[in-house]
Amino acid sequence: MTIGIDQLGLYTPPFFIDLRELATARGVEPDKYTIGIGQDQQAVAPSSQDVVTMGAAAAKEALAGQDLSKLGLLILATESGVDASKAGALYIHRLLGLPASMRVFELKEACYGGTAGLMMARDYVAAHPGKTALVIASDIARYGLATGGEVTQGAGAVAMVVAEAPRILAVNDDSALHADDIQDFWRPMYTDQALARGKYSTEQYIAFFDEVWATYREKTGRTLADHAAMLFHLPYTKMGLKALKTVLAEATPAAQERLLAQYQASIQYSRRIGNIYTGSLYLGLVSLLENSETLAAGDRLGLFSYGSGAVGEFFSATLQPQFRQAVPLHGHAPLLAQRKQLAIATYEQLFADSWPNDPSDYQSEPAWFAGPFVMSGVTGQERQYRAND
Ligand code: HMG
Repeated sequence: MTIGIDQLGLYTPPFFIDLRELATARGVEPDKYTIGIGQDQQAVAPSSQDVVTMGAAAAKEALAGQDLSKLGLLILATESGVDASKAGALYIHRLLGLPASMRVFELKEACYGGTAGLMMARDYVAAHPGKTALVIASDIARYGLATGGEVTQGAGAVAMVVAEAPRILAVNDDSALHADDIQDFWRPMYTDQALARGKYSTEQYIAFFDEVWATYREKTGRTLADHAAMLFHLPYTKMGLKALKTVLAEATPAAQERLLAQYQASIQYSRRIGNIYTGSLYLGLVSLLENSETLAAGDRLGLFSYGSGAVGEFFSATLQPQFRQAVPLHGHAPLLAQRKQLAIATYEQLFADSWPNDPSDYQSEPAWFAGPFVMSGVTGQERQYRAND
């Protein structure tokens, strides 16, 4: 039975900053951000947008035209969740009016959560013929103003409907895995800003990639040449390239050229949105499918998922005959083109206007309401979600 991604949705808030302007404001040479890090713009989420509202927006797109009565599982993968107990997935479940007879929960392992959800959904569909699953990877990456990680922030969500006989991508059962308890990046419970050992995290990302790539190669007998494109978790777009370059010499010059060209197609959206943690690898997938004109049905893609802490997984996926109808070229270009650029001072104000980490009530600023769903405020320690009418 072929199982995989039948439909995709992508959402990012309609506000961004230009990273050359941010570099100037931080006294950094702008080329460091655009060339050294590989980021041009960064999505900015006002406080009315969180993993629930963004996830619901992406899921609304992914579910369009789907038979909801087949849906048996909803997983929200996030590492910037809004409650330590209740699953954000339940707010989404209500906002989208999904059937009551479903498994609905949230899962976490840093940026690996999206892949953990996808694999769990694939196994669920295999065990329950005729059922479908919805996986939402939604996050706001925050490190703090003027921190080393600030240039690698971002916000957005990707949603995937997983089904039998999928139209877009078969997710193959060929994973190579590596897990180890390391302290490269984490977020203590008292704060919404992550801590990172920056250089160490980049070294571990590459070490985990090299490990799972070697295992996968040995297990499957495949080489780089067997993959039309290699996709990476993208905390920033230079990161995946660094990992790819550690193995590129294994390929012929022609294959190297092809993989580098496809890599460029895969990073177009991340360059303008930034890190969306759990969804970053799948943002790269959407970008590749919408910006590469040379892909064909039957092509095998290699995907490397990394979540700090850390878990690495490499697996392959095969493009299906109907993928182009399900993912039109440049389909999400308008979502990015229609965003509003913010001055750095405005971004700093929005960054500071965060919901409270104490029992007080809070009202999100209606002037910044955007997207199909909003978190209008916190009343009596309960978050208020509604459609943005
Ligand atoms: P940094 O210390 O600001 O940057 O930290 P740097 O000094 O290492 O410079 C970065 C690059 O810019 C270097 O290139 C410089 O040479 C270059 P490289 O040697 O890497 O090829 N550079 C310039 N290039 C052109 N013109 C110039 C110029 N100046 C310098 N003028 C760092 C960068 C990414 C570490 C920091 O932003 C950070 O800590 N980010 C957060 C952590 C992170 O993203 N880690 C990535 C791996 S871990 C991961 O992916 C998991 C994660 O997504 C979380 C999760 O799993 O949940 C983060």
